[in-house]
Amino acid sequence: MIELVFATNNINKIREIELLLPSFFKIKRLEDIGCTEELPETHETIEENSLEKAEFVAQKYNVNCFAEDSGLEIDALNGNPGVHSAHYAGDRNADKNMDKVLQEMENNDDRNANFKTVITLIIDKVQYQFVGTINGKIGKEKKGLYGFGYDPIFVLEDGRTMAELMLEEKSKISHRAKATQQLIQFLKENYSA
Ligand code: IMP
Repeated sequence: MIELVFATNNINKIREIELLLPSFFKIKRLEDIGCTEELPETHETIEENSLEKAEFVAQKYNVNCFAEDSGLEIDALNGNPGVHSAHYAGDRNADKNMDKVLQEMENNDDRNANFKTVITLIIDKVQYQFVGTINGKIGKEKKGLYGFGYDPIFVLEDGRTMAELMLEEKSKISHRAKATQQLIQFLKENYSA
């Protein structure tokens, strides 16, 4: 059995991955190792912040662990909101964040964007990163009732917004799903009995 700490405080993400990993792996939570402090996220890229969180936990608590970081990157805004996705308009308010993006993109013809998730795994002191992305375009208005965050303004190749996908469909194609699948594949191939 291999114990892996998932360095997140989001219980939904923990449950999601527990369902996908073979029972050979035991996912431990931050609270299980006595880690109650805020994880550092001080960089300007999703890759660096993902690594920073995993390194913090691996070094301070001497454990095998993985962390993830996600965000929306818009070409015409030089990759913003990026690491600032959650708080782009000041607080954690998805509607205000989307309004800010729509306003900044008002006169922009280049509407290309992508969602990105970077998972950093540190196991036996070695670091690995798994990147999942999904490409789309920023719409002109919000559309759709499902999902969260920027989903209502993220238009997929088939013309639907991410918020028009039910969870079952989104969880097969999303940036997070792609990065998670790579992590699971890697662990199965290299660390399963
Ligand atoms: P986190 O790192 O997964 O907590 O994501 C940070 C922020 O990126 C969220 O608060 C959202 O604003 C945005 N984000 C990440 N994933 C998604 C998604 O699947 N849909 C919409 N917004 C997302």
